[in-house]
Amino acid sequence: MNMGTPEHTSLLLSDELFEQLRQLIYHKTGIYFQDNKRYFLEARLGKRLEECGFSDFRSYFDALSRRNNAQEMTTCVNNVTINETFFFRAAKHFELVERHLLPALISERLKQGKTTIRLWSAGCSTGEEAYTLALILQDRFRPRYPQLRFELVATDINTEVLARAEEGTYSAYAVRHVPPALLSKYFNRTDEHKYALDTDVKQLVRFRRVNLFDRTEMLGVGLVDLVFCANVLLDFDSHSKTQAVSSLYRALNPGGVLFLGFSENLYGIEHGFMTVRNDGILHYRKPS
Ligand SMILES: C[S@@+](CC[C@H](N)C(=O)[O-])C[C@H]1O[C@@H](n2cnc3c(N)ncnc32)[C@H](O)[C@@H]1O
Repeated sequence: MNMGTPEHTSLLLSDELFEQLRQLIYHKTGIYFQDNKRYFLEARLGKRLEECGFSDFRSYFDALSRRNNAQEMTTCVNNVTINETFFFRAAKHFELVERHLLPALISERLKQGKTTIRLWSAGCSTGEEAYTLALILQDRFRPRYPQLRFELVATDINTEVLARAEEGTYSAYAVRHVPPALLSKYFNRTDEHKYALDTDVKQLVRFRRVNLFDRTEMLGVGLVDLVFCANVLLDFDSHSKTQAVSSLYRALNPGGVLFLGFSENLYGIEHGFMTVRNDGILHYRKPS
């Protein structure tokens, strides 16, 4: 891309450019930066401006919004998404999936004569959520149901985190909640601080870039039985959240289940799900 002039003035985001940038990002991603996120945006994109040699936000915005600048838009989105995650993040959700939901789902599918169970981590970041499900499948379900095929699809809008997810190597911090038996069985310690996930577990997950705010891309994922979309829709507004939730609804087989993050719900959002509380854990079920 055009590198602009190298000399930097102070990289301040004016009211007008903040508004234009947040609208542009909103229309591409569904993420709506509230007024209190302005300095976050300024700091994250300020770094990108410096990398590219732009002297102010106006020239960066012009370059970004120019037609066909999909490459810089991807980099911009990579810079402004929040990717915090770790293994077994919502421990109680995974416990419910392992103890109740997956066994029930499996017996239902077996009765229907189906042989494939598909799970989806939507907004997977660096892969910890998807690989947590993969660990549960590999350790508890694959040995018990050799006749079944388990598929896990994991998607994100951020191409950088997806590349790291494919690698499958994690810090001690990311794996801190992995039960010790699973940690020693399925991770190889590459050095003092790095844990590389076992290839058999990695192979259960297929990563791909999918924008939750793009109906066509969402349709491309196909049908699934269970979806985690945790800590992703927090920064969406009610319109983009409604649209993403309706795409998730469409992707679920009848009887399929949606999990959001621990502190999230669909309050105020129009949707067709049944709200379920199981052991106090909130989740959403598509009617059978
Ligand atoms: C905070 S992380 C959550 C990761 C994981 N689900 C968890 O709960 O630990 C949120 C992820 O959502 C992704 N994201 C944000 N907007 C998105 C969109 N429109 N489409 C797909 N992914 C999106 C971000 O890139 C980020 O990796």
